Amino acid sequence: MRIILIGYGVVGQSLSNIFLSRRLENLRNYGFNPKVVAITDRGGTAINCKGLDLKRMQKVKIKEGTVAADNEFGHPQIDAQSVLQSVEAEIMIEATSTNITNGEPGLSNIKTAFNTGKHVVTTNKGPLAIAFPTLTELAEHNKVLLRFSGTVGGGTPILEFAKKCLAGDKITEMHGILNGTTNYILTEMTEKRVTFNKALKSAQTLGYAETDPTMDIDGLDTATKIVIIGNWIMNKKFTLKDVAISGIRDIKLGELDTASKKGKRIKLIGSINGKPTVAPKEIHKNNPLCVSDVLNAVTFFSEYAGRQTIIGRGAGGSETASAVLRDLLDIKYNLANKMIMLE
Ligand code: HSE
Repeated sequence: MRIILIGYGVVGQSLSNIFLSRRLENLRNYGFNPKVVAITDRGGTAINCKGLDLKRMQKVKIKEGTVAADNEFGHPQIDAQSVLQSVEAEIMIEATSTNITNGEPGLSNIKTAFNTGKHVVTTNKGPLAIAFPTLTELAEHNKVLLRFSGTVGGGTPILEFAKKCLAGDKITEMHGILNGTTNYILTEMTEKRVTFNKALKSAQTLGYAETDPTMDIDGLDTATKIVIIGNWIMNKKFTLKDVAISGIRDIKLGELDTASKKGKRIKLIGSINGKPTVAPKEIHKNNPLCVSDVLNAVTFFSEYAGRQTIIGRGAGGSETASAVLRDLLDIKYNLANKMIMLE
């Protein structure tokens, strides 16, 4: 399977670590043999149609800041759009930073990948938050697959749980902690009494926060995930502008203490129950949704199966990269099944 990787930050590099360390298991257990034929970062592109040496790419990236500095395979003048137009591959992985103003550059990268017949795995929430219905239609029109597990819940299979494990049932309502950074900040403030800024700095160091951390703090990151869950899982058609959003910027230590005295915790909760909302709310510490640190938790209410909660680490490079690997395997299975049906 030939892959073009666009974006070589925390997630992209974690993914190449997984490819390197799990190469034999992936081949033996899943018949999965990824060949990364191009990597694009902010400095340009490295291309090798026979498959790039990922160890070498990591070294160049660390030393020079861009894979385009590789003296044999690097092309500083080639950007994502030209690589997608000119390099043959079955899959594009879009792992550039989330931009919720216009979804770029991810949105154009995804459209070009579709137009050139490539399946897409994205960890970038911006294009989905802005144009979810359009992108799913476009994928269908071009007869390619779009997968995005890593956009919600990091490595925790929140989307698959609702889509596959609860298939056939009807999810009527959901509530969740969907942002690791804010959960980490609120937990540190409550339990260790550290200041908001100190907790935020440590979330950034640990690689949880978005490039622009206001996305996390002001609830926009949670809102993008609510858009993805609403559209993909609950068949609702809405985008980011339809979500009522407030974040945790103004939460004071005193408010956290008052909640604690009542046996409750303040958490940033995204909900779909009527109008989609994101807001800090008090929840009882015994509620399964009340998880700490960088954990995410989502409770789905479904018509027949009732209340289900899924919990797991919601952010981080290797966690999100594991979701990408899941998506790649899912595409592989889908393509294999299609071939069987055609025979
Ligand atoms: N900044 C996000 C979070 C990363 O903290 O949850 C995962 O989407």
